[in-house]
Amino acid sequence: MRVTLRKTFLFLYLLLCLMFMALNLFGKISPTNDETDSNDYSTTTYKYMILNFFKRAASHKRQLALFPEDSQKTDRILEQLLYVPDRLAWHPVKIYLPQGANGVSLGVKEFQDQNCRVKNCFITTDRADAAVANVVFYRNSMSPMSERRPGQLWILQLLENPEYTGALPHANRAINYTATYRWDSDLVTPYERWTPLADVPSDQRLLPSSPKLRRKSNYAAGKSKLVAWFVSHCQTSNNRLGFAKELSKHISVDIYGSCGSQSCDRLSDTCWKRLDEDYKFYLAFENSNCQDYVTEKFFVNGLQYDVIPIVMGPPRTFYEKISPPHSFIHINDFKSPEELATYLHYLNKNDSAFNAYFAWKGSGQFINTKFWCRLCALVQNPKPKVAENLDNWWKRSDICNNAQTWT
Ligand SMILES: *[C@@H]1O[C@H](CO)[C@@H](O)[C@H](O)[C@H]1NC(C)=O
Ligand SMILES: *[C@@H]1O[C@H](CO)[C@@H](O)[C@H](O)[C@H]1NC(C)=O
Repeated sequence: MRVTLRKTFLFLYLLLCLMFMALNLFGKISPTNDETDSNDYSTTTYKYMILNFFKRAASHKRQLALFPEDSQKTDRILEQLLYVPDRLAWHPVKIYLPQGANGVSLGVKEFQDQNCRVKNCFITTDRADAAVANVVFYRNSMSPMSERRPGQLWILQLLENPEYTGALPHANRAINYTATYRWDSDLVTPYERWTPLADVPSDQRLLPSSPKLRRKSNYAAGKSKLVAWFVSHCQTSNNRLGFAKELSKHISVDIYGSCGSQSCDRLSDTCWKRLDEDYKFYLAFENSNCQDYVTEKFFVNGLQYDVIPIVMGPPRTFYEKISPPHSFIHINDFKSPEELATYLHYLNKNDSAFNAYFAWKGSGQFINTKFWCRLCALVQNPKPKVAENLDNWWKRSDICNNAQTWT
């Protein structure tokens, strides 16, 4: 009896030794091809290594494109969600939010709630943590802090387009990583992220019976109205209101809110129900036509109701990258609002051509892009990087193009 027990322990001990050896070998293959030589990160806890061994094995099967310099063919969100670094930081990475929590849970809670693959981070809003934090996370603006801990990583998140962003004079050569809707940001943060079913992360997959995956047989049935638009901000540099008014000379356009004559409580369900039940088209016009800038006006007001979104914003090629197939009408495809109206009248009369714009429904999901999970994984052993001329990158004159080609 005693001998078997001893043999079992010996066997287990040998097995553990073999595992450590395998883990160490594994640690030499880095998905980013980047190893910082900083001593802070070179020590690893075997506890984390074992916990993450199997998760990591999955992400090592292929090289993950994590940063824009690796690939701009995708937004790299799915890759970042899969990423588990070889080496986790010894202590949880402290992330300081100088502008307050803004709805983010403090401590380790955010990472636990989101069920992150990498939870080794700690969020704080305590001013006293500014000097000791590993990461400082700025949102929309930044005033330089007096002290910066050597090696402290600064991340800047920008939510609005450049026209609605203040000057960023202190950002150049100070910010390491950017987090914006632009695909050339380090952490891409789109308003919504459409994903075909086959690519939906396994922990987010809806059941086939989910109402969100159901498709109607006829999206034109019972609808008596044509174009709707909910808008409150009237004067914009792309003159979207001018376009809508021109369009309304050739087809019925109901403009709800302070820029039009219709009213409806946008916070109420009945207001949104009108889109599903009464209207065929919705004007998903952005407030400025800027590179990669597409907001909830398209993803939520348009795609998530039973209307065809008519878009004004970045070029068609970008919408094609982020949208379900054949799901929108782009104003640039028409020489004038009048020509667009002619096409809308055609769709109004041809139910099968109209319904073709809804064939995508049920073929994918809008996923949770788990921003804080992705951030936590990327800052464990951060790739060295500095944004040289961030102000110009964000605000360069060709980033937004509001020329009115239709007048
Ligand atoms: C209606 O749309 C269908 C599908 O796009 C098309 O094949 C058909 O020719 C259209 N009918 C007319 C009368 O234009
Ligand atoms: C972040 O930027 C600062 C300031 O330019 C720089 O000193 C530091 O090395 C950068 N950190 C990393 C990890 O690249």
